[in-house]
Amino acid sequence: MGGRVMLPLLLCLSAAGPPLLVQGGDPYLFFTWNVTYSSISPLGTPQQGILINNQFPRPNINSTTNNNIVINVFNYLDEPFLLTWNGIQHRKNSWQDGVLGTNCPIPPKTNYTYRFQVKDQIGSYMYYPVTAMHKVAGGFGGLRINSRLLIPVPYDDPSDDYTILAGDWLQKMMAKMNLFSMELGKTYKYRICNVGIKTALNIQFQGHNMRLVEMEGSHTMQSMYDSLDVHVGQCYSVLVMANREPMDYYVVASTRFTRQMVTATPIIRYPNEKGVASPKLPPPPTSWAWSLNQFRTFRWNLTASAARLNPQGSYHYGSINITRTIKLINAAVSYVEPSTPLKLAEYYNVADKGFKYDNIVDDPPAEISKITLDPIIIFENHENAIQSWHLSGYSFFAVAPEKRKNYNILDAVSRHTIQVFPQSWAAILLTFDNCGMWNIRSEIWDRHYLGQQLYVSVLSSARSLKDEYNMPDDSPLYGIVESMPKPQPSNV
Ligand SMILES: *[C@@H]1O[C@H](CO)[C@@H](O)[C@H](O)[C@H]1NC(C)=O
Ligand SMILES: *[C@@H]1O[C@H](CO)[C@@H](O)[C@H](O)[C@H]1NC(C)=O
Ligand SMILES: *[C@@H]1O[C@H](CO)[C@@H](O)[C@H](O)[C@H]1NC(C)=O
Ligand SMILES: *[C@@H]1O[C@H](CO)[C@@H](O)[C@H](O)[C@H]1NC(C)=O
Ligand SMILES: *[C@@H]1O[C@H](CO)[C@@H](O)[C@H](O)[C@H]1NC(C)=O
Repeated sequence: MGGRVMLPLLLCLSAAGPPLLVQGGDPYLFFTWNVTYSSISPLGTPQQGILINNQFPRPNINSTTNNNIVINVFNYLDEPFLLTWNGIQHRKNSWQDGVLGTNCPIPPKTNYTYRFQVKDQIGSYMYYPVTAMHKVAGGFGGLRINSRLLIPVPYDDPSDDYTILAGDWLQKMMAKMNLFSMELGKTYKYRICNVGIKTALNIQFQGHNMRLVEMEGSHTMQSMYDSLDVHVGQCYSVLVMANREPMDYYVVASTRFTRQMVTATPIIRYPNEKGVASPKLPPPPTSWAWSLNQFRTFRWNLTASAARLNPQGSYHYGSINITRTIKLINAAVSYVEPSTPLKLAEYYNVADKGFKYDNIVDDPPAEISKITLDPIIIFENHENAIQSWHLSGYSFFAVAPEKRKNYNILDAVSRHTIQVFPQSWAAILLTFDNCGMWNIRSEIWDRHYLGQQLYVSVLSSARSLKDEYNMPDDSPLYGIVESMPKPQPSNV
């Protein structure tokens, strides 16, 4: 199947409340970022890298639930550049998602200001470039959303909070860059994201256990792990207690399921340490079954409050009637970047010139109803390599890789990225309640580049600010919409 792949979904539930564009009471965080080329040496030999304000990676964004984030990005590269905020939901505001189906990339030597609110979210996220293969050269960083003070967090404040951005091609550089300090008896939070391009990683803290506390915006049931598999595009938060003999230890990131196993070694250091880290690295697990079994242990903590006071589990997703089943098979998805971003073509009412709706069929064929809010999406992988699928704008329930009757309809973790094991499949459940144009993409970057992504257009029946914000005035425009008169913005 060629061309643009679209799933239309007419009507979206509008969240109640006045159509406020500026969230008066919520604080603003302002950033100015210069994106430049520079020489970096992630694999030992110098290569051209992409820096933001001369940092690689980083800068980290440290925000709190409902903060308004304003980032003025100056593109000093000689090619177009665009960043996406992986896992940030951009309620009513897919304009800021920063993928090529919604935004024109920032032309060279110009700037663009992202404006978004981290509404009703907590947790550990990352941002990275989506243009060309820029992600391999850098331009990424961490994005934290802390809980508001009045919301209870189901664990004590850690003594410090560290971010580890791990990636299959980053290994050697990490050793030089990272030194995490831990004092005996204290507990530290590590936010671990796989910002790689291809490979699942297994993360271990030499000699220490991890308590898993958060996964892509959800508080999990806190279990202890010796090691954790983190697939491309995923982020976890763990607590690590410094309870071992004071010396140096390695944080070990091993690539999973590849013939050549690379091991990275950022170091954690106890002050006044007595010795260097033991070169004996714990061997990572090897089988798929191990990884699948670990996935089954991840549970949503139904009584914990995430971004709001009410417990996460007060949303009983298992009682929602499934209105549509959409099956996506790797090989059947082949998307070509449009000459005009899909979202802009739709907004300017020239969607028919840019793409076709519904050129993906549900399988088994479902009765195509216009109100299909609660679909289940099944990702099938008939290949021997692992897949990792992300949905922007949403958090979904990762209910399987299980038989239908074994779907976890009670406490599956609500998250934004799901791995699909080889010759296997995964099912996710969600309600399409966030209007906009949203990207379903493979996080395996060569697959993504070759077209393994598609867009879901979640439309409302009326153009209303209750459902969706207007296009920002300063959006860069190109393609067929460049010279067209701007559609009348909605003011209701
Ligand atoms: C970004 O670049 C401009 C122009 O070179 C410079 O004036 C400014 O200080 C830089 N800002 C940062 C945060 O590096
Ligand atoms: C991040 O923000 C929180 C809440 O404002 C603050 O307590 C913390 O010190 C900040 N951390 C860093 C590293 O800036
Ligand atoms: C570009 O930067 C200037 C100076 O900071 C700012 O006034 C302007 O709004 C920015 N333009 C865009 C499109 O963000
Ligand atoms: C679940 O969250 C509650 C807070 O509501 C906390 O007291 C409890 O320890 C958590 N359970 C687990 C297993 O993490
Ligand atoms: C789901 O469908 C059943 C049977 O049609 C109905 O009784 C029930 O109320 C529906 N539940 C929801 C949450 O809509």
